[in-house]
Amino acid sequence: MQIKILVAQPEHTVFAPAICALIEESAKARGTGIAKRKPEYIEEKILSGKAILALVDGEIGGFSYIETWEHGKYVANSGLIVNPAFRRHGLARRIKAAIFRLSRTKYPEARIFGITTSLPVMKINSDLGYRPVTFSELTQDDAFWAGCKTCPNHDILERNQRRMCLCTAMMAPSAVEARKMAVDLSDMIVEA
Ligand SMILES: CC(C)(COP(=O)(O)OP(=O)(O)OC[C@H]1O[C@@H](n2cnc3c(N)ncnc32)[C@H](O)[C@@H]1OP(=O)(O)O)[C@@H](O)C(=O)NCCC(=O)NCCS
Repeated sequence: MQIKILVAQPEHTVFAPAICALIEESAKARGTGIAKRKPEYIEEKILSGKAILALVDGEIGGFSYIETWEHGKYVANSGLIVNPAFRRHGLARRIKAAIFRLSRTKYPEARIFGITTSLPVMKINSDLGYRPVTFSELTQDDAFWAGCKTCPNHDILERNQRRMCLCTAMMAPSAVEARKMAVDLSDMIVEA
């Protein structure tokens, strides 16, 4: 099995309909909400260099893309999907690591967040340095929350004035904050 994890290139726009179908099928299978995406939206993410693609023997293995909110103050790594044929081979872990790196390179000042009900995603996020946070820490951009409208649990979010829902929110420091933390720590090392 040959696995390639790469920043999606213009020639990969041909995979957009298949990616949308995978997202929709898995949302149905889980009975939980993943915001629906149109192929044009996926194409735009690919063309703007904001997507990571996994290819397995030339077939679509998985995908994730970057969304920015509040003029780049926040970044979300969204739309994570792994083809059911290739699950449990560490693809999600590799895609998430790659999109995380790409996000920090493109938006070094942005905090990176996600909301999820998925155990694998929570595990991977924790390993990347995300911490659980309350929804109050996330972007308050209405456009982000509009993505929850296609979720079957949207009424719960609305009832709680967007303060909580069934998803867990997680956030990672920006690249700049992470560098600062590392420097602050090294300052504290005392040689014996
Ligand atoms: C969630 C999903 C992306 C995981 O993809 P994957 O490539 O199978 O995940 P990985 O193989 O990289 O596994 C990552 C970790 O999660 C664990 N894991 C994966 N699937 C799991 C499952 N169904 N139940 C419990 N743990 C699981 C793995 O054991 C691994 O943990 P470890 O490294 O501590 O052993 C995939 O199942 C998927 O596309 N699901 C539908 C879409 C979805 O839920 N997207 C997330 C929306 S926020």
